[in-house]
Amino acid sequence: MKFRWLASVLLLALFSCPRALAQQPADFFQQNCTSCHTIGGGRVTGPDLKDVTKQKDRAWIEHFIQNPKAVLDGGDPFALQLQQDARGVVMPTIPGLTPQMAKGLLDLIEAESKLAKSRFAGVSISDRPFTAADIAMGTEIFTGSRKLSQGGPPCISCHTLGTLGGLGGGRLGPDLTRVYERLGGRKAAGSWLSAPATPTMQAVFRRHPLQSEEILPLLSVFEDASRRSQPADAGTQLYFFMAGIAGASLGLLLMGWVWRNRMQAVRRTLVSAAQRGAE
Ligand code: HEC
Ligand code: HEC
Repeated sequence: MKFRWLASVLLLALFSCPRALAQQPADFFQQNCTSCHTIGGGRVTGPDLKDVTKQKDRAWIEHFIQNPKAVLDGGDPFALQLQQDARGVVMPTIPGLTPQMAKGLLDLIEAESKLAKSRFAGVSISDRPFTAADIAMGTEIFTGSRKLSQGGPPCISCHTLGTLGGLGGGRLGPDLTRVYERLGGRKAAGSWLSAPATPTMQAVFRRHPLQSEEILPLLSVFEDASRRSQPADAGTQLYFFMAGIAGASLGLLLMGWVWRNRMQAVRRTLVSAAQRGAE
């Protein structure tokens, strides 16, 4: 367990780099907004931003995007309607979104809205039905037996999934069993994965973005996991809660032990690979 934390922290240190100081609005938008918004590609988690400045005045929007929660908490009716349309999701406060950047972003959105097709129209993930082959490939990607093409770390180092069986995966990130619904289905979850905007995920994948050929199989795995895990009723939840407390200390000990062996197994392969290289 201790090792796994260490590994996660190391991964983070490896994959995160200091943010550029003077960032351009387009880069800023790509990294912080495309997980939830398209320009002309339809609603995902948040509304499509095409022509947004024609529906509401710029001053209001600039104010809103700098502190969405405060505006919502203030009971602004327009914001509350937006939130309702977004199935209750609250736009997060985006670090580094200064008044100046807010203006730059709105200029960008206006300019992109005039184009026949904005480069922010969203990822194109095929609508074809998921197949068993997708799920198999997605599982390989998730567990790391198939490498990510851009070199990101495997999901399992930080996430667990109900359909994985065995000991599951890492605990640094949330359990992804029901993430498919949580993120709002195929299109929204696909956009999310193409440009994750949460701190850890962004730090890890900004420079190693997932490709659409990888996102589709991952989505199939999440859809499958979500479908196969029935929501537990209150009684079952209480049972699991109590059982969880009882089992936790034992589980921790057990996992620490098992993982110690797994880490050694990894190290052995690394060592023998290094030795092979040296020969
Ligand atoms: C985690 C998802 C998420 C991220 C990331 C996000 N937004 Fe939002 N955004 C929303 C949601 C949801 C709404 C609808 C209001 C609400 O529910 O808070 C919204 C509303 C908006 C609106 C108002 C839309 C309208 O129709 O008036 C604008 C403009 C906007 N976002 C711009 C941005 C920009 C620019 C960024 C990046 C700096 C960004 N958002 C990042 C989820 C997000
Ligand atoms: C270094 C650890 C790490 C790795 C590797 C990682 N994640 Fe995450 N992930 C996190 C953390 C931590 C969060 C919680 C939000 C945040 O801080 O970014 C998260 C959040 C998420 C979420 C949103 C969950 C929710 O409930 O909103 C999704 C989806 C996700 N990760 C998918 C993936 C996929 C797919 C992979 C593999 C391609 C992956 N993650 C690899 C740490 C990681």
